[in-house]
Amino acid sequence: MAQATTTITQRKCKCNTMSANLPLIAAFINFIVFCFADTLSPEMQIYWENHLVQPYFDNSSKREVTAIAGQTCQLHCRVKSLGDRAVSWIRKRDLHILTVGILTYTNDQRFQSLHTDGSDEWTLRITSPQARDSGVYECQVSTEPKISQSFRLNVVVSKANILGNSELFVKSGSDINLTCEALQSPQPPSFIYWYKGGRVINYSQRGGISVLTEQQTRTSRLVISRASPSDSGNYTCAPSNSDSTSVVVHVIKGEHPAAMQHGINGANGVHTSTYQIAVAIISACFQHLLLSRLPLMATGFSLASSSSSSSSPSLPAAVRPVR
Ligand SMILES: *[C@@H]1O[C@H](CO)[C@@H](O)[C@H](O)[C@H]1NC(C)=O
Ligand SMILES: *[C@@H]1O[C@H](CO)[C@@H](O)[C@H](O)[C@H]1NC(C)=O
Ligand SMILES: *[C@@H]1O[C@H](CO)[C@@H](O)[C@H](O)[C@H]1NC(C)=O
Ligand SMILES: *[C@@H]1O[C@H](CO)[C@@H](O)[C@H](O)[C@H]1NC(C)=O
Repeated sequence: MAQATTTITQRKCKCNTMSANLPLIAAFINFIVFCFADTLSPEMQIYWENHLVQPYFDNSSKREVTAIAGQTCQLHCRVKSLGDRAVSWIRKRDLHILTVGILTYTNDQRFQSLHTDGSDEWTLRITSPQARDSGVYECQVSTEPKISQSFRLNVVVSKANILGNSELFVKSGSDINLTCEALQSPQPPSFIYWYKGGRVINYSQRGGISVLTEQQTRTSRLVISRASPSDSGNYTCAPSNSDSTSVVVHVIKGEHPAAMQHGINGANGVHTSTYQIAVAIISACFQHLLLSRLPLMATGFSLASSSSSSSSPSLPAAVRPVR
């Protein structure tokens, strides 16, 4: 910001007669150059263009750009009356020169300058932008003193989310019902794909598959009716503008109490079974510990136990001391 202010001040000092309306004056001079072009020698024309006409920025381009991580984005800088000066792109964070003219100066080949001969647009293209590329970029013109225009790039990381756990247990014959959201993306996704095991779900191979995608709510629901064990697999939801996400579906034949008790809502089933296992392990540890120390602790424990047995009902019966 401070640098931008200095640049403007310097420019005003140098051409104080030109005052505020620089673009108008530049256009006027351009017009004169154009009118008398035929009467001037080519050397004179170049001199006029390069020394009398000051380049200036066209402010019509977007200065705040939001990009999605991984998706190519562009910053457009428009410079009028450039003459023979060069346009460079600088990364403000470390003052790294990314491009000069149409050449890339950095080793990072994701940065590229795009320019069509005769156009006033100098575009910085960033392939596969990452969150760390967020920040200020400067379009700089090699006038004396140099002039620059800053652009703010905001790279957002958007990850899709399938509601529920990353593992789902479904009883054979009931439905697989997966809801995927892409809420963080700046715009609604133009499409949301579903894959099974890395391949796009083939609707014709098996009936009873429905996908309902709502762009406005940025959600997509995949329902596979009457699931059979062959429908087990790794299901991936891939919105056009978000990172994909996966859930592993297990279709289980017959009863499988811990995992099945919540049917399609298998997430809770997983929680329950994990919890039960944890409790079982902890009580087994307790049991082992107490039994191995029992001869030593018998007196102490029986005292503690008689005073607190009502407040710790979860102690397994086996560890209750024998009086
Ligand atoms: C562009 O914006 C800058 C700073 O806001 C200003 O100094 C300059 O005159 C503007 N240029 C045009 C062409 O409007
Ligand atoms: C799928 O689940 C959602 C919410 O979890 C529910 O609103 C919807 O009706 C279900 N669809 C089917 C076909 O079961
Ligand atoms: C599921 O598939 C996705 C995409 O192919 C992959 O990245 C992920 O590691 C897979 N998950 C499992 C648990 O295999
Ligand atoms: C889907 O499966 C059908 C039947 O097996 C096959 O003919 C078709 O080519 C498949 N389509 C895709 C896109 O894989």
